[in-house]
Amino acid sequence: MDNQKVISNTIEFVKDKLKGDSSGHDWWHIYRVLTLSKRIQKIEGGNLFVIELAALLHDVADWKFNTNENEGIEVVSNWLKSQHVDSTAIMDVLHIIQNISYKGESEKNKMISIEGLIVQDADRIDAMGAIGIARTFAFGGYKGNEMHNPTIKPIAQMKFDQYKKSNGTTINHFYEKLLLLKDRMNTETAKKIADSRHPFMQDYLDRFYKEWEGLE
Ligand code: ADP
Ligand code: NI
Repeated sequence: MDNQKVISNTIEFVKDKLKGDSSGHDWWHIYRVLTLSKRIQKIEGGNLFVIELAALLHDVADWKFNTNENEGIEVVSNWLKSQHVDSTAIMDVLHIIQNISYKGESEKNKMISIEGLIVQDADRIDAMGAIGIARTFAFGGYKGNEMHNPTIKPIAQMKFDQYKKSNGTTINHFYEKLLLLKDRMNTETAKKIADSRHPFMQDYLDRFYKEWEGLE
């Protein structure tokens, strides 16, 4: 099967897997991560086929959707085998999706390949800026979290266990993750994009607090 055919089959596979998701992991999140990954790859290099597959499949195996991480990896692995992707590329893609997820500020990044670093950057950029703000409120609503509560303070340096269980407010999620992302970009190209999205979130928060007190 040629690579283009594998990509278009994978697009259909992913659309089907994620359909109906309202937690911020719908097809259009995947579309944006794919688009950003390709933009970054043009400048940073790396194997485009592996990057495209990893971007497309990165949330299918997410720890938030499967009973355990291995089950999700199995699903992706079987899919790639069914598409006759060569075993080196399969290993590369699986390594990426096993290590992509943000697990709280104190977890060390285990990603090593340039392809993985790029897709991880793209995934993190999609949590920033106007899109990131929208996704965060959508996710908070999905979890039933409060939008903002001035009496609940953000938790700095969360451990993975705390992060996974966090039922904090959506505004606190800005301090627990979104505003930290700018300094966690792997590639120079992603840093530039993040530098443009970051101040937008700060301006948003400034305005939010002013409106909260009836000052704007
Ligand atoms: P991804 O797997 O795409 O990196 P996540 O699964 O960590 O993203 O989160 C999906 C979206 O929901 C992101 O925009 C993220 O910032 C947001 N999000 C994750 N956890 C929370 C939370 N506790 N409160 C509000 N938004 C959250
Ligand atoms: Ni994602």
